[in-house]
Amino acid sequence: MKDYYVIIDCDPGIDDAMAIMNAVNSENIEVKLISTVSGNLTIEETVRNALKLTEIFNVDIPVAEGAREPIKRQPIYAGLAQGTKGMGGYQFKTVKREPFILKSPDAIHYALCQNMARNTTILCMGPMTNIANLLLKYPESREMISKIVFMGGSKDENGSTVPYREFNVAYDPEAMQIVFDSNIPLIMVPMELGHIAYFTPEEQLKIKRANKVGEIFYKMFTKYNDFHVGKLGAAVHDSCSALFLTNPEIFTLEPAFLKIEYHKNNDNEYGYIKCDFNANKTNAMVCVDVEIEKFKKIIYGNLFNYN
Ligand code: RIB
Ligand code: CA
Repeated sequence: MKDYYVIIDCDPGIDDAMAIMNAVNSENIEVKLISTVSGNLTIEETVRNALKLTEIFNVDIPVAEGAREPIKRQPIYAGLAQGTKGMGGYQFKTVKREPFILKSPDAIHYALCQNMARNTTILCMGPMTNIANLLLKYPESREMISKIVFMGGSKDENGSTVPYREFNVAYDPEAMQIVFDSNIPLIMVPMELGHIAYFTPEEQLKIKRANKVGEIFYKMFTKYNDFHVGKLGAAVHDSCSALFLTNPEIFTLEPAFLKIEYHKNNDNEYGYIKCDFNANKTNAMVCVDVEIEKFKKIIYGNLFNYN
């Protein structure tokens, strides 16, 4: 089934940027709104980056400002990985476009009401604060969402005793539990996919040589420091969730039961997703693998659209 109408919620962010490029260049989905949330950076930076990305990708899609902090925790930003402005080594001075007149969650609710077709999918590529606020303020919106595809969490703790501290969950675990409790169908795209979905330095040069948009991505990658894959390359976590929507056939899914648990680590306690593949009831499908060559070919194809 085509996921026709899609609302993106994100915190751009370099890998968010690559994911948005893929989403807006696919024939299989139509992106109706790009809602932003604080996460990688402050909300001022993520809105500004998202507006700039719609200019770079030459798409007329409304960009809405969303939550500036988690439901109840203090923000923890990811500037180290994403660069001080969240676009790695790519810097820009001006943004011509203005944010949408409504802010999220009202903007998301408005877009859902516009698409009353009940087949609206939410693609969540950052902390889930906006989605939780949407469900708290507009409980009826859960009837208008066909499923939520989200990048977040770890499908296994890699055998380690310390649960994996994935950023989108750690930033706002309480928001994620509110979403899990809504019974909206969930597709989880965990960190482990990003550990295989990365562009090596040679592939980054191929991206650079594609066109102007490729050059911009190359600049982003120069300061992208995702320590999970280190010098191996640039992990494009969020593109795994975007491509699940545009090309689900290249992914392998397994059913699981997801819930948020908390782990005390020295002086702080962080939330993580407990992903149970052996539970007798399930509330999500989890992406456990992707055909990486087809994955990269699709991304190159989308990028070459800008030639
Ligand atoms: O852990 C990876 C996630 O955290 C990605 O969404 C990245 O953009 C950061 O937000
Ligand atoms: Ca993100």
